[in-house]
Amino acid sequence: MKTITTLLAAFSVFLAATGICLGADAQKGKLLFESPALGGGTSGKTCLTCHEHGRDFSPETLSRKTYSIMDNPVASLAEVVNFCIEVALRGQAIAENSEEMKDLLAYLAVFIQNNSGKAQ
Ligand code: HEC
Repeated sequence: MKTITTLLAAFSVFLAATGICLGADAQKGKLLFESPALGGGTSGKTCLTCHEHGRDFSPETLSRKTYSIMDNPVASLAEVVNFCIEVALRGQAIAENSEEMKDLLAYLAVFIQNNSGKAQ
């Protein structure tokens, strides 16, 4: 049993080292979160510009049943992200099932966990 666990651990390290990724990639999501070009953005802003230190985010951000952004009802987290891309970055919404969206949401979870309660 121990051997199997060790082998599995070694295999995960191998996968990580070779860059093979089976799911959403938070590392890529971080680059998107900090890129003014996300969605072809034209405002020069990035997600980080406004949400630095977790501003406007809370642990509930990931699990709300419905969202309200600038008094607009929004149904899902992906739609909120697109709202911010369109309104704040002045870009084009990205497909909700795209790799970019999955990576962005994967990073959002890490970012919120690391910044929870740090906003002034
Ligand atoms: C110009 C500033 C600005 C930029 C840039 C911006 N946002 Fe926002 N975002 C806001 C504001 C303000 C709110 C809160 C709106 C409200 O409460 O009505 C918000 C809300 C959110 C929420 C919902 C939080 C919650 O708990 O309901 C998410 C998720 C979010 N933004 C993600 C993003 C992502 C991802 C990006 C980059 C694509 C981004 N935002 C770029 C200003 C911005």
